[in-house]
Amino acid sequence: MRLALLGCGTVGSEVVRLLHEQSADLAARIGAPLEIAGIAVRRIGRDRGDLPVDPALFTTDALGLIKRDDVDVVVEVVGGIEPARGWLVEALRAGKSVVTANKALLAEDGGALHDAAAEGGGDLYYEAAVAGAIPLLRPLRESLHGDRITRVTGIVNGTTNFILSAMDATGAGFAEALEEATELGYAEADPTADVEGFDAAAKAAILASLAFHSRVGAADVHREGITEVTAADVASAKAMGCTIKLLCIAARGADADGRETVSVRVHPAMIPRTHPLASVGDAFNAVFVEAEAAGQLMFYGRGAGGAPTASAVLGDVVAVSRNRLAGVRAASESAYADLPVRPMGEALTRYHISLDVADRPGVLAAVAGVFARHDVSIATVRQGPAGGATAGRGEDADLVIVTHVAPDAALAATVQELRGLDIVRSVASVLRVEGGT
Ligand SMILES: NC(=O)c1ccc[n+]([C@@H]2O[C@H](COP(=O)([O-])OP(=O)(O)OC[C@H]3O[C@@H](n4cnc5c(N)ncnc54)[C@H](OP(=O)(O)O)[C@@H]3O)[C@@H](O)[C@H]2O)c1
Repeated sequence: MRLALLGCGTVGSEVVRLLHEQSADLAARIGAPLEIAGIAVRRIGRDRGDLPVDPALFTTDALGLIKRDDVDVVVEVVGGIEPARGWLVEALRAGKSVVTANKALLAEDGGALHDAAAEGGGDLYYEAAVAGAIPLLRPLRESLHGDRITRVTGIVNGTTNFILSAMDATGAGFAEALEEATELGYAEADPTADVEGFDAAAKAAILASLAFHSRVGAADVHREGITEVTAADVASAKAMGCTIKLLCIAARGADADGRETVSVRVHPAMIPRTHPLASVGDAFNAVFVEAEAAGQLMFYGRGAGGAPTASAVLGDVVAVSRNRLAGVRAASESAYADLPVRPMGEALTRYHISLDVADRPGVLAAVAGVFARHDVSIATVRQGPAGGATAGRGEDADLVIVTHVAPDAALAATVQELRGLDIVRSVASVLRVEGGT
């Protein structure tokens, strides 16, 4: 088996190392030796340390490498949309098998890759694209095909999980926790893709596509990041026996006419400390899958890093190589259900709303009236003396309201109307609640 490696950075260099260290085992598992035919990079002269590979294998001509007749499998660990999309479509159409870790490309235009794979007859595997080392996509696309998945809830971004875990542990604010994450190498110099939820949204699209046999793209995912989460939100969550996590949630539902739909969203949410995802700390990832027959399943592990991600890449390389030797290909994309994606406004959620209100008779009734007008049912109300800017003045009070499940649009409209009431001095925080409390 001859392999073209596109990219030799954090992940690619670990792929090279593992290929070298485990070459005998990999050959035995595949049934043929695995050799690197070439490695495409951007900077040929870059210092790559003591990488155990012949320097003559490096090239800047990725397309030329892909087109070579002696290449069977193309491994793409470059990232980004272009030129990766063009390379992979070319490789797949030519009948090569492709292994990629490129979540951004799969979420942006996975359909183009699947179509090219179907045309060329090779395999397209991408276990490393979601939750790094955790075997998750293979269970979704193979093991659970006898079942009906109802919901996937995941912590799929290590950077934001590190930040939120630090805020929870120390009471730090977002900026302080981000600074710590950057110092420790958990956050990139430009953390936008992580903290604004873009990375998690791409993974949510991939998970939803596999779980619900439908094509879901990044543009279908409702996305909110964690930059607005405050130390006060975290404290408020703690007071309720909850913690705040950036969740990706893909769930089956039905529209007003009873037709099946999916909703796919990424946002910070409060979850009870007793929920299995609450104990996922630091930069770890975990995905909680609910299926009708299997019940609840949890997948946990390292979601990023060179070696963990390379482990997932190599697992795919072994699988596609075996298939090629056997002259077969894995089951192609399963998108037969073609479920429409429900707008966020129709997704069923629960809100935790913290208000600073005037402390006088009739306030509670007025606030409750707003919820009733939007058909939002209140689950719990907690009232106490003001803890914010007006603390100790005796004129204001804190009101913490948790709702029952309602359409997100009704909840958002409720908050909007509350903001306009003169008895509401401020809406201190609004967070969604997941997982039951
Ligand atoms: N890092 C992780 O923990 C992780 C986890 C899961 C998934 N992934 C995914 O894995 C992929 C790679 O990530 P990474 O962290 O390894 O990236 P990286 O460290 O930035 O490495 C990128 C590699 O691609 C090469 N490259 C960039 N542009 C190129 C071009 N136009 N032509 C040829 N080569 C080019 C670079 O060449 P030079 O070496 O010459 O600069 C480098 O070797 C991404 O899709 C990422 O989302 C990464």
